[in-house]
Amino acid sequence: MAYNLLKGKKGIIFGALDNKSIAWKVAELAHEEGAVFTLSNTPTALRFGEINELAEKCNATVIPADATSVEDLTRVIEQSMEILGGKVDFILHSIGMSLNVRKKRVYSDLDYNYLMKTLDISAVSFHKMLQTAYKLDAINEWGSVVGLSYIAAQRTLYGYNDMADAKALLESVARSFGYIYGRERKIRVNTISQSPTYTTAGSGVKGIDSLMDFTDRMSPLGNATADECASYCITLFSDLTKKVTMQNLFHDGGFSSMGMSWKAMKMYNKSFNCDCDPIDEDPITD
Ligand SMILES: NC(=O)c1ccc[n+]([C@@H]2O[C@H](COP(=O)([O-])OP(=O)(O)OC[C@H]3O[C@@H](n4cnc5c(N)ncnc54)[C@H](O)[C@@H]3O)[C@@H](O)[C@H]2O)c1
Repeated sequence: MAYNLLKGKKGIIFGALDNKSIAWKVAELAHEEGAVFTLSNTPTALRFGEINELAEKCNATVIPADATSVEDLTRVIEQSMEILGGKVDFILHSIGMSLNVRKKRVYSDLDYNYLMKTLDISAVSFHKMLQTAYKLDAINEWGSVVGLSYIAAQRTLYGYNDMADAKALLESVARSFGYIYGRERKIRVNTISQSPTYTTAGSGVKGIDSLMDFTDRMSPLGNATADECASYCITLFSDLTKKVTMQNLFHDGGFSSMGMSWKAMKMYNKSFNCDCDPIDEDPITD
């Protein structure tokens, strides 16, 4: 059901690769909610992904850009304002990539050139996007910019590698730029810390199946899907969240607040055959 939450709003969505991408789901929902927007991804992603199908469905123009290039970002933002007929109201940064992960370099044996690329693509690009938009005065008052993060920014999760460092930086950029953008132009900057999700980027994470199973069982509400993440993004682009800024917002079914669950304790006792008190069969009594 559509609520017209983005009626009259204009935006730019970075990072839709295929129909599993979080950005893809955001674009579909933003279209349903009445927004007009442009789409952007790398020239390689445009060649191998399916973005044209999405563009057709959403009546959106696709503008190629490597998000690490300020020149490319300037072109995307300028062209978007031209196409959409003025400043935008929202920008989605849904971009992440680690060459160390791709090339199977573990965290205790990082290639530092790859690390710099991870940080540039996955985090510094967020600053570049914000700074470019700021200098071009491209976002309307009460506009909203959202980046996508992961709990590995705060907690160590096996196998997440240098993307954990990138996410920590991404969240810090949201706070630092959020202060300036809020103070000067009344514009919000937030990150959403999403549950592990089956996408092209997600499936690159070591042990993604076990990780998703674990977080799903550990979260009282279960893992959040890409569609649910899109819904959350829409609320952040809407006027219903005008005073939310500089936040890292967990969208993870409660996982980030959990320590030990009934299910996990039961499994723990079972797998290690430990000499612990038996666990009640009814979680309600706990
Ligand atoms: N999938 C998960 O488990 C999960 C969980 C939390 C956060 N996230 C984050 O969500 C965001 C979107 O990822 P996704 O899961 O939808 O996967 P995805 O693979 O569909 O999207 C990643 C996108 O980044 C783009 N990209 C890579 N390098 C780029 C560059 N130099 N310039 C511009 N774009 C570039 C890719 O082309 C792709 O479209 C990422 O920031 C990711 O870290 C994902």
